[in-house]
Amino acid sequence: MKVGFFQFAPRFKDKEANLIQIERVLETTEFDLLVLPELSITGYAFGSRDELLPFAESIPGPTTERLISRLGERILILGLAMVEDDNLYNVAVALTQQKIHIYEKVHLFRKEKEIFTPGRTGFSVFDYCGFKIGLMICFDWIYPEAARSLALHGADIIAHPSNLVLPYCQDAMVTRSLENRVFIITANRIGVEREYRFTGKSQITGPEGEVLIRVGEEEVVKVIEIDPGRSREKRITPENDLFQDRRPELYFSDLQLPENRRLR
Ligand code: ACM
Repeated sequence: MKVGFFQFAPRFKDKEANLIQIERVLETTEFDLLVLPELSITGYAFGSRDELLPFAESIPGPTTERLISRLGERILILGLAMVEDDNLYNVAVALTQQKIHIYEKVHLFRKEKEIFTPGRTGFSVFDYCGFKIGLMICFDWIYPEAARSLALHGADIIAHPSNLVLPYCQDAMVTRSLENRVFIITANRIGVEREYRFTGKSQITGPEGEVLIRVGEEEVVKVIEIDPGRSREKRITPENDLFQDRRPELYFSDLQLPENRRLR
């Protein structure tokens, strides 16, 4: 399967310019699955809910319809600002001709907490060409539970639209891939918006913790060939199966945790 990412600097509040740029990539790039950054159409650094609201859309909506019409049999995954029942959600959508899969960001970062409602969808997977794809967004990376949940649901590939500003994620995703034996495509953005400077270095990591590709801080499209079936081999040694050997009954023994750490 040909999978990749488009790393770029979305123009703040200029949806038309961002859509045109993405459409050019769709026209000129050969891929099966392509991942774009978080909030690719609007930009990121909104200061309030009221500032973002005029740019958010329902899904399906004009942006998703327009992009789907350019896809053919391919799948495009990107971050969008979604409005629903007067709430804003920071979402990742997987667009295909047949269906839109939506993931609403669970772990909100900094000012996102004032703007977005925390996601309700949780971490689930969907089928594409016989493989299972899972979605998470940016800051979800620091909660190993996000990638773990997707992997336990059978994800072969995790698509990870991002707007990263802290310097840790790219290295952390090597471990997320290794500890779950899955492919992860982190599509980050570049550029500066208000107080945020984004770190680029989009990458694809493999089930053995390989960095299959990592770029710099330039605008770039990269596509590589992977065999997503490799994610299905969960044995680390002949005697050690990553998932069968888990002992969840010992991990979350609620009553032994301090009160403020207990599962609610
Ligand atoms: C982030 O979650 N956009 C850092």
